[in-house]
Amino acid sequence: MALLAPSSLVLGLASAAVLPRAGDHYPEKHGSKHNHTKLNVQVGDRPYFLIDDMDEGSLKDKLESCSEGPFAPSDFVFAHRGASLQYPEHTYAAYSAARRQGAGVIECDVAFTKDKQLVCRHAQCDLHTTTNILNTTLASKCTTPFTPANSTALASAKCCTSDLTLAEYQTLCGKQDGFNPNGTTVKQYMDGTPYFRTDLYSSGCPKIVTLDEYIDIVDGWNLKFTAELKTPEVPMPFDGYTQEQYAQDMIDAFKSKGIAPERVWPQSFLPSDIFYWIDNEPEFGKQAVYLDERVDTPAGYENATASLPALAARGVKIMAPAMFALTKVDNATGQIVPSEYAIAAKENNLEIVAWSFERSGWLQIGGGGYYYDYVKSVINKDGDMYTVLDVLARQVGIKAMFSDWPATVTYYASCFGL
Ligand SMILES: *[C@@H]1O[C@H](CO)[C@@H](O)[C@H](O)[C@H]1NC(C)=O
Ligand SMILES: *[C@@H]1O[C@H](CO)[C@@H](O)[C@H](O)[C@H]1NC(C)=O
Ligand SMILES: *[C@@H]1O[C@H](CO)[C@@H](O)[C@H](O)[C@H]1NC(C)=O
Ligand SMILES: *[C@@H]1O[C@H](CO)[C@@H](O)[C@H](O)[C@H]1NC(C)=O
Ligand SMILES: *[C@@H]1O[C@H](CO)[C@@H](O)[C@H](O)[C@H]1NC(C)=O
Ligand SMILES: *[C@@H]1O[C@H](CO)[C@@H](O)[C@H](O)[C@H]1NC(C)=O
Repeated sequence: MALLAPSSLVLGLASAAVLPRAGDHYPEKHGSKHNHTKLNVQVGDRPYFLIDDMDEGSLKDKLESCSEGPFAPSDFVFAHRGASLQYPEHTYAAYSAARRQGAGVIECDVAFTKDKQLVCRHAQCDLHTTTNILNTTLASKCTTPFTPANSTALASAKCCTSDLTLAEYQTLCGKQDGFNPNGTTVKQYMDGTPYFRTDLYSSGCPKIVTLDEYIDIVDGWNLKFTAELKTPEVPMPFDGYTQEQYAQDMIDAFKSKGIAPERVWPQSFLPSDIFYWIDNEPEFGKQAVYLDERVDTPAGYENATASLPALAARGVKIMAPAMFALTKVDNATGQIVPSEYAIAAKENNLEIVAWSFERSGWLQIGGGGYYYDYVKSVINKDGDMYTVLDVLARQVGIKAMFSDWPATVTYYASCFGL
């Protein structure tokens, strides 16, 4: 989703057949394979590690009281690119781990190939950091082929989904997102996994997926969907492919498989995409999530907050700024409290989805950085993560939290009955 990350790293946010239109009947699927009530959710040991690290107090006591579960899947938990903290993002393994950790909703970021097929990648042009493309013959097709670092310049490369056909794309393997800008060889460049992640689950050839495959996988688990239409990094229309057709194709992928719109949260950073869905696919549009990056500057934050009544009047139902914009520190008490943006959203009956948890590494470094920007003066250890989540869940009243490690949020959600 967002691009902000440790400074030396860039981590980063089908068919056009004739399909049923809005208002058509969407049969609910059923059958034994669509029964996740039996799923044995595993939160692993990380939530316990974080709770141990918390300051003493009623929140810690409450979370400790839930230590023996039960833990259940929750729609409060949106898996950000799958369980991407440790699994290579947008791979089958990352989605499967997210399901096991209790995510009720799993994300696919949508980008298009040269032949205008839709695939799950965080960005249109991140293949050089999220796949093995530079170590394959397809490297020659990259928008910017690999150039090694030398004494005066950093290494560079830029490989886009739109550089490849779908068939070519499907030969690639996923890898943990990251690169080493000092690399003088492809091997060195590809070896850039951030300190808080791991290559442990990147062996072999992690399977990257198309939007259609993602829908089949998540539907087979009877979970829900959030698909983000990634902002194109090539001028649109691309070889005749318009932004509107791209936005429509993403929705059509779900409709052609008979997925009920209530199970899908389409997202975009571009308000024009959100308005397109509201106007042309109202059943999907009413669950559209407006990813709000205007908050990234102080002036933009003021404007974004002021614009919420007009957005609500335009039919927008769900806003999703980076989580930092939803909280602030109350100077008088030193407590973390809802921000002006969060209060204004609530006043306008807008729901809020926050992003992203478990993407910041150690919170002792710079108070957690970007995602904790407005509260970093009171953040100094990893356990503080749950303090922030608690304010977001119970004071801001967020509808859901994206997380790179769903288990951390599932533990909280199960504990508080979310
Ligand atoms: C789903 O699982 C629950 C709990 O095990 C069980 O009671 C129910 O009968 C199952 N439903 C179907 C359709 O298999
Ligand atoms: C370093 O690489 C850049 C291109 O990446 C090139 O323009 C420059 O001439 C190179 N410098 C040296 C000293 O080789
Ligand atoms: C790249 O080299 C610079 C200068 O030597 C160094 O400061 C930086 O940490 C290196 N980055 C990585 C990812 O190795
Ligand atoms: C590059 O590809 C070769 C041959 O497939 C493989 O042995 C090697 O491990 C790969 N290197 C990286 C860094 O992926
Ligand atoms: C904020 O809104 C004002 C008035 O519409 C506009 O002039 C300004 O450019 C906006 N600033 C940002 C950062 O969006
Ligand atoms: C609260 O503290 C912040 C950060 O120190 C400061 O920028 C802000 O002006 C303060 N607000 C009030 C109302 O004192």
